[in-house]
Amino acid sequence: MKKINKIVLAYSGGLDTSVILSYLKEKYQAEVVTYTANLGQGESLTSVEEKAKRTGASKVYVEDVREEFSSNYVLPALQAGALYEGRYPLATALARPLITRKLIKVAEKEKAEAIAHGCSGKGNDQVRFEVTAKALNPEIMILAPVREWELKSREEEIEYARKHNIPVEVTEKAPYSIDRNLWGVSIECGILENPWEEPPSDAYQLTKSPEEAPDKPTYIEIEFKGGVPTGLDGESYKLVDLIEKLNRIGGENGVGRIDLIENRLVGIKSREIYEAPAAVILHLAHRELERLILDKDTLHFKELVSQRYSELVYDGLWESPLRKALDAFVRETQKELSGTVRIKLFKGSCEVVGRKSPYSLYDEKLATYTKEDIFDQKASKGFIHIWGLPLRTVAKARKKI
Ligand code: ARG
Repeated sequence: MKKINKIVLAYSGGLDTSVILSYLKEKYQAEVVTYTANLGQGESLTSVEEKAKRTGASKVYVEDVREEFSSNYVLPALQAGALYEGRYPLATALARPLITRKLIKVAEKEKAEAIAHGCSGKGNDQVRFEVTAKALNPEIMILAPVREWELKSREEEIEYARKHNIPVEVTEKAPYSIDRNLWGVSIECGILENPWEEPPSDAYQLTKSPEEAPDKPTYIEIEFKGGVPTGLDGESYKLVDLIEKLNRIGGENGVGRIDLIENRLVGIKSREIYEAPAAVILHLAHRELERLILDKDTLHFKELVSQRYSELVYDGLWESPLRKALDAFVRETQKELSGTVRIKLFKGSCEVVGRKSPYSLYDEKLATYTKEDIFDQKASKGFIHIWGLPLRTVAKARKKI
């Protein structure tokens, strides 16, 4: 085995990555540098630095990447309409390529030969980390201890931590596996593994249940400029702040819960619940503006792009040439996507109730059934005659046989 001197570990400060830190040091006799990204997971990251040091990290990186995450990953996915299997806004999947890019950067700066992650061998995230890492640096070595080590349960990990003097808070056994960032929360394991069971209320992290949400609707107006959400109720917002604000307003109204049986890349069907109020609201508002502004062919073609784009992101192919090419298409469609969408949030539902734009293709004079109508109804006769020609031709030809 090639000697490894330095490893950069994607570190969350939780039990798994703390044990991994110590395990890597022992197994490879290597220096371990940790990297932690603030992606809006809502936990205080000040203790992470201290924890990593106490667990034996030779150097600790903690970085606020929320801005970069929202402009370079979340925004393109929103504009592409990327919802995996029609529903999942891809919060976890979008964060992985960014974290990986950062790990590679730190590895190059620190002259580390390897990076390490704490993903299991059954999920999508291992694929996303590793495919992205090799796309950015084909020479880098990747270590995935959870796939190899003998620690089979949380109890065994706690035992390992005790033996190795790793500081772990002795908490109740966490009933769920949770991954969170500003674009959403992903929750699985425990009772949720039974797809017939309704998710218990303690599974949800940031949304109220529709039953507990206010009995009066909340109306909001979201403004877009060139496909970018820039305002809420007449006030300008930076994207990060807008997302955080919509998570609060949506969550308060019970909006953004998604209970999904999904197809993992490794062939397993799994059940995950998501909470993504801002993502649900923004996808709805953005799509609505496209309905108003884009011509029919572009709008319909973009649906195909959305589906493919969501698969690329989910499947760990963020760095692929195809994703970048699709981005170029999407960007072209967003040039005139400016306007305002009015949304009603009420006890878990989220509905568009109004839309307007200077670029709107909606022409009331064409659509109306009043005397303002300018549509030439007589011209429809000739149009229908020719539109139906292929079907009449078939009918006539078949009669001859
Ligand atoms: N199923 C989601 C995905 O593959 C989330 C995976 C992580 N979920 C979790 N609860 N840790 O993107």
